[in-house]
Amino acid sequence: MVKIAILGCGEIGEQILRNLRESDKDSEIWITRRNSKKGHEIAEKYSAAYNESNVKAIENADVIFLCLRPADMYDVLNEIKPHVEGSQTIISTAASISIEYIKRFFNGPVTRYIPSPLITENGGVAIVSGDGIPGYLKPFMSKWSSKMHVVDENDMELFTILTSSGSAFISTALVNVLDRLPVSDKRLPKELILDVIDATAESLRKKSIDECRDVMKFCSTPDGITAEGIRVLSDEKTKNMLADVVLSSLAKSKNMKKEYEK
Ligand SMILES: NC(=O)c1ccc[n+]([C@@H]2O[C@H](COP(=O)([O-])OP(=O)(O)OC[C@H]3O[C@@H](n4cnc5c(N)ncnc54)[C@H](OP(=O)(O)O)[C@@H]3O)[C@@H](O)[C@H]2O)c1
Repeated sequence: MVKIAILGCGEIGEQILRNLRESDKDSEIWITRRNSKKGHEIAEKYSAAYNESNVKAIENADVIFLCLRPADMYDVLNEIKPHVEGSQTIISTAASISIEYIKRFFNGPVTRYIPSPLITENGGVAIVSGDGIPGYLKPFMSKWSSKMHVVDENDMELFTILTSSGSAFISTALVNVLDRLPVSDKRLPKELILDVIDATAESLRKKSIDECRDVMKFCSTPDGITAEGIRVLSDEKTKNMLADVVLSSLAKSKNMKKEYEK
């Protein structure tokens, strides 16, 4: 029987536990977190076992998920370092903490798996880097997201922001626009915006980046209403502000890497 340990079973750890349980009723799953009351509750809900000790939880585990915040990774990596076997696969969901750093602690396979917050609904885009997902987990994990891309570890920080954070950015932009629309019932506007996002994505997917630029031109009558919106979006201040959403997040990720990869 496969044994899986989830260290740091908070928000993402619980979603992984839930998805694991839905996909595979038989595997033995051990979880940890500091709050033992919550740990026991979550374990009971998903027929898993809670243990206060990370070292005990990883004993004989085939796969060890590290679902800790970046700030807690160093302590837990140090704690389990003498007890991890080369045959155990580590899968880390932590943003900003590189495979190169995690490999300073262990000799075995290490994978980074960054799910989208939409993993709660088996959706969003997940990215994976490193030594890959063990064969028996692949068919399950590929269904937890709408898409799962294997990417180069060096691109992981930027691509985390485009994918995992991306879902949150788009939700934030949608809500901000809806909040300010001069209509009282926002349900149809919400549906229209999402339909347009779907249709536009479908169409832009088939085009080169230059052809995407052309869409901006042929979609708007000169001096017309769409052209006015595009003028605002193309204003240097707006362009910088939009780029800053990604660049500020990337700078934060680099700072966290510097701070927490001790
Ligand atoms: N949330 C997302 O949408 C998302 C998406 C992709 C990647 N990630 C990454 O996933 C990681 C977890 O994020 P999260 O949102 O799930 O955070 P979270 O809810 O705070 O979960 C982290 C858990 O780690 C536990 N923990 C801390 N120190 C521990 C220790 N020494 N031993 C055992 N457990 C310990 C905490 O336990 P207590 O709460 O009991 O103290 C907490 O439940 C982060 O690195 C984040 O970058 C998150």
